[in-house]
Parts: sequence; C-alpha cells; structure tokens
Amino acid sequence: MTSQPTPTQATSSGETGHHAGQDRSRYREAYERWRSDPEGFWEEAAREIDWFRPAEKVFDPSAGIYGRWFVGAECNACYNALDRHVERGRGGQAALVYDSPVTGTIRTFTYHDLREEVATLAAVLQDMGVGKGDRVVLYMPMVPEAVFAMLACARIGAVHSVVFGGFAARELATRLEDATPKLVLSASCGIEVARVVPYKPLLDEAIALSRHKPQACLILQRPQASASLVEGRDRDWASAVAEARRAGRRASCVPVAATDPLYVLYTSGTTGRPKGVLRDTGGYMVALKWSMKNLYGVDPGEVYFCASDVGWVVGHSYIVYGPLLHGCTSILYEGKPVGTPDAGAFWRVASEHGAAVLFTAPTAFRAIKKEDPDAKLLRNYDLSRFRALFLAGERADPDTVQWAERILGVPVVDHWWQTETGWPIAGNPLGLGALPVKYGSPTVPMPGYDVQVLDEGGRPQPPDTMGAIAIRLPLPPGCLPTLWHADERFREAYLTTYPGYYNTSDAGFVDRDGYVYIMGRTDDIINVAGHRLSTGGMEEVLASHPAVAECAVIGVKDALKGEVPCGFVVLKSGVGQSPAEVETELVALVRERIGPVAAFKLAITVGRLPKTRSGKILRGTMKKIADGEPWSMPATIDDPAILDEIGEALRSRGLGE
Ligand code: COA
Ligand code: AMP
Repeated sequence: MTSQPTPTQATSSGETGHHAGQDRSRYREAYERWRSDPEGFWEEAAREIDWFRPAEKVFDPSAGIYGRWFVGAECNACYNALDRHVERGRGGQAALVYDSPVTGTIRTFTYHDLREEVATLAAVLQDMGVGKGDRVVLYMPMVPEAVFAMLACARIGAVHSVVFGGFAARELATRLEDATPKLVLSASCGIEVARVVPYKPLLDEAIALSRHKPQACLILQRPQASASLVEGRDRDWASAVAEARRAGRRASCVPVAATDPLYVLYTSGTTGRPKGVLRDTGGYMVALKWSMKNLYGVDPGEVYFCASDVGWVVGHSYIVYGPLLHGCTSILYEGKPVGTPDAGAFWRVASEHGAAVLFTAPTAFRAIKKEDPDAKLLRNYDLSRFRALFLAGERADPDTVQWAERILGVPVVDHWWQTETGWPIAGNPLGLGALPVKYGSPTVPMPGYDVQVLDEGGRPQPPDTMGAIAIRLPLPPGCLPTLWHADERFREAYLTTYPGYYNTSDAGFVDRDGYVYIMGRTDDIINVAGHRLSTGGMEEVLASHPAVAECAVIGVKDALKGEVPCGFVVLKSGVGQSPAEVETELVALVRERIGPVAAFKLAITVGRLPKTRSGKILRGTMKKIADGEPWSMPATIDDPAILDEIGEALRSRGLGE
C-alpha cells in the first residue's frame, strides 16, 4: 500500500476551488435520503425506466452473492435506449453523431435511424442463430456499427463482450475462451493517427489460438483495408444487413429479467487472466439514468461528448447506454485529442455539435496542454453551449484540473469509478448543485455508495487517515453482481479481504468534510494513459522469454500518460544474446502478446532484483527510486547494495533523478 501521509499532509492537498457554495447543493439531502431508505431511493429512480414487468422486490438480499436489484422485473435496454424515445416523439432528434477525423467523416443518426439500423442488425444476428443469453464478442474500432452491434445484442437479449482494439490476438483469445461466444463481430481495420491497424489477421490468429471457436464471424469491410473472409465461417457485414433490409427483417425487443446480463466486459486482474465483469440489465439502466441528470447535470435533448472508446467501461456507460437512455445526442469520436489533426480537435467537435459536456481522461488534457499550452486553438471555436468537463480513469492531477478550468472557464469535475462499478463511485454532482472543489479529490460518494477507509484489520478509520478504500455491501444498482461464470473468483477478489465490504483495491482517505481522495492501487494494477493494465500480466510475458531468469514490472511516473510500465529483468547465466538484444525482444514480445495499448517500451537488464530476506521483490522501493521520490532502506532487505545498482540502471535511462 501507498505510504501513510500524516493528517496534515492529507488535508493540505484539499485547497478549495471557486465553484458554487456547498449550502446551495442538494447533494447532502439526496445522500441522506438514500441512506435512510435505500430501496425507496432506487425505487423512485427506477420510475425513469420503462419496465415490461415491475420488480417484485427492489432489492432481494437473499438472491445472488450479496443480493440482487429489481428482482422479478422484466425490461429491455435497447427499448429504453431507442424505441421509447421514438414512440414519444424524439425520433427525429440526433441520437448518434459519428465524427471521425481519421477518415474525414461525419454522419448523424436520428433516434429513428438508429432504431432501424439496430433492429435490422439484430435480425441478422437472429438469422445467424444468436438468441437470448448467447454471447457475442465485438472486436471493433470506433465506428457506428460498433454501437449498432451492442444495441442489437441488447435488443434480442444476447450478451455482448467488447474487446478493445488495442489488445493483441492472445488477449482476444483469452476472452473468446472465457466468454465462449456464438458469434464474433469485427471489422477489417482500426485507424490510429499514423497507421491503419488491420484487425482481421488478429481475429483469425485469436480464433486459431482459442480452444473455443465461434460458429461465425460478421466482418465489416472498411475502405482503408480489405479483410479476406474465411469460407463457411465469415460473412460480409454490409451484404448481410442489405439482405435483411430487402427482406424487411427487423427484430423486436425481447424482454429479459432485470437481473439478466447485458454484457461482460473484461478488465485487468492481478494475473494475465482478465476478469469478466458482469453487468446486469435493470440496475445498470436505473443507475446510469440517475447519473445523467444528477451527476452530469445533462437534460434529455442535449449533446453528450464522451471521448473514450467503446472497448472501455466509460464507452459502454457514457458513449452508448447513459446518453441514449436519457434521450441525449451522443458523439462517437474516432480520433485522438492531439494529432487528428491538432490539439484543437476536442474543441472543434464540441463546438460543431454543440456539446454540453465533455468526458475524457486526464491524460488527454495533458496531451493537449503539452501541444498547445496557451490553448490558442480554443479561440477558433464557439463553446457557448459547453458547460462542464468530466475527467476519470486515473487521478486528475491538480495542475491539469486547474489548467482546464482556466482555459475553459467551466467546472472541471474529477470523478472516480471502476469497470466493476459501471458508474461513478464519487464525483461532484453538478445536477444537484456543485459542491466546492478540493483539488486532488474526486469530491464525494454518490448515493448508493457507503465508502469506508479501512486499516489492515478491516477497522474503519477516522477522517484524514490513509487506508484501503472499501464499499459497504450491498453495492448499488449498476455495479457488478459477480464475475462471468466465476462466483468464487468474485468472492475471493473483492469480498473476502474485508468481510461485509467490496474491496476497491484503491487506497486513500476521506477528509472531515466527507471528500474522498484516491491515492493509488493496493494491487499490481497500473494506469497507463487512463488504460488499466496488470503488471503481473506483463511479468508473465517477460518470464516466458527463454533468456529471462527473473523479472519485476512496476509503473513509473510519466508526465503524459500518468504512469508507464518499466520491466527489470535478470538474465539466465550463459545467455548468448546481449542484454540490449534481449531488451528489444522483450518490448516486442509484450506488444505482440498484450498489445500496443500496454505501452511497454522500457526493459532494463539488472544483475539482481532487490528482495526481502523472505524473497519478496521490493517493487514499492524500486518504484520510489524510479520516480525520484524519497525512500528509506527497507529493514528486511537481503542485500542493500542491489538498490544502488537499480538506481544506476535507472539513471542510465534518464529515470529516477
Ligand atoms: N487499436 C489499435 N491500437 C491502438 C488502439 C486501438 N484502438 N488504441 C491505442 N492503440 C495503440 C496506439 O496507437 C499506441 O501505439 P504505438 O505504441 O504504436 O504508438 C499504443 O496503442 C498506446 O496508445 P495510447 O496509450 O492511447 O497512446 P497514444 O500515444 O496513442 O496517445 C494519448 C496518447 C494521451 C493521446 C492517448 O492515450 C489518449 O487519448 N488517451 C485517452 C485515454 C482514454 O480515452 N481512456 C479511456 C478511459 S476514459
Ligand atoms: P478502470 O476499471 O479501467 O476504470 O480503472 C479503475 C481504476 O482507475 C480505479 O480503481 C482507480 O485506481 C483508477 N481511477 C479511475 N478514476 C480515478 C480518479 N478519478 N481518481 C483516481 N483514480 C482513478
């Protein structure tokens, strides 16, 4: 765990900003209302969703592992995201705007258009044998068809599992094996700033590696790359949809139980084996709908711009489901914050489509700030409709938050959540009236979350004391009820360390005003450019190289990406290759096995790894040395001289100064 700051250190980061006064916020009232009657609170929130059958019990503590929400209810997420808006007069409003600077395309789909696209694709899926409960894996770039596909699955009760395009074939194969999909939906390529990334060869390799083989694949051919189709297995997306359209085939919404899975989304665990986070249907819709107005302060009909990727939870919740459930216009942006074509890209998109809010990762703002420190490009755009910036995915450093506030002149909200929770645990609820900002804090827990700081023995800690952050059970609607086909792993990973709590694996503290501070992870997860990665997974890859005897991967501070991975390796004796050759191969190996998203560019050969006398590698001390932070010699270290050697190796790469 991160070292314990003294209470004064803890509060000193809580310098306050200039936002609206606490007294005017209805947050405390809302939180108390939830605390005094959780079921009543969520029952009321659930009225914003259309149910085919109402819940018999808002919360059933005897169902599932820690209880289940909206038991007995029946609903459909696609109906709530599309059909009901069309039926109530929103059909002509833009639902999805695809803005792709990398292909020079802008396309708008109204709610009516989107429902037609989704209903037709859903019929294609049914014709290909997909039904309720079947899994469908999506390995897709940021194109409208990815959104159609997610909603088409939801329409027919199938469970989608989207795999981020920056993962390599092996990672995709692991997910195919775990999710055992009937069908895979993919495209010929994704487009990065400087290159076209052919997806189909990666998909073919993944299917070859996987013990589970999907029955069929539906492949979207993009003009930038053509994919060769495997006879008898692969089908062309455009012709399948055209055929269904000609035949007038459209699927209707299939009622599912509120507790049925909407999707499985894999996220890094402590090993190379990712965790399949299961999302239910009813509770998720209720929580997202509540968050749209109360946290993000957005009204139906407004434009929501979330610059993430549909491969991440942020994309699931706030590119696809949240904005559409709320009747907003959602922007699907296929581009980067910089380089497509410049650091004014976000301002261009926000102004051109009239976005009310932007949601992105702090790393994107650091990238913009680096390229255009005085935000000169901002002057070219009219952002008069823009009201707030939301940041998540990693800790928002106060410098970046203050820079964004200065250039934009609107509230900048750091909010904290995880793939597991599906929606924010803590934030500044703009819709309830903003609370004063404390830089370095994502503000306060949302209703539904009883956030506690615990010591190693699981005892709640007083304000301003560092500890493990845990959430008292039950988790609110929207959070994972379990892991896909892995109840025991769910219990072990999240519920056993602190009985009665969900362990977030984040460390931090809560101050006297109830503001939460998230200071780092307690496990080996690192956050690279807002992407969550497992150092344990990278160590497994390094250890598989024949020349490597031992290794340790840590996250080191990076001015742009927050953290980047750095691998220390000890070579086997008698290895014929030079250390430099092995290092180059290791960098290539991680890219090949995990993918470019791992951003693994630093492999450093050392003579030995620092360890305690009982053989535990001193990763925490290595990290402090690499980050140039003060560190003390661990009392249990086996051989103190090794740390000098590590410091020397780091300095030779320009680190640790
Ligand atoms: N398909 C294929 N490759 C991908 C990919 C995708 N969908 N997404 C990223 N990659 C590749 C990148 O091209 C890059 O490859 P490289 O090593 O050849 O340069 C590598 O994966 C690392 O990508 P990334 O970490 O995104 O770095 P970047 O250098 O391309 O861009 C930022 C840096 C800061 C601009 C970028 O990280 C960013 O915009 N991040 C936003 C984070 C975000 O949206 N997080 C989601 C949670 S909110
Ligand atoms: P992911 O599951 O990819 O969303 O990553 C979740 C992890 O990212 C959390 O457990 C935190 O460690 C980190 N994280 C996300 N948002 C924040 C934030 N606002 N402040 C600090 N850490 C964050």
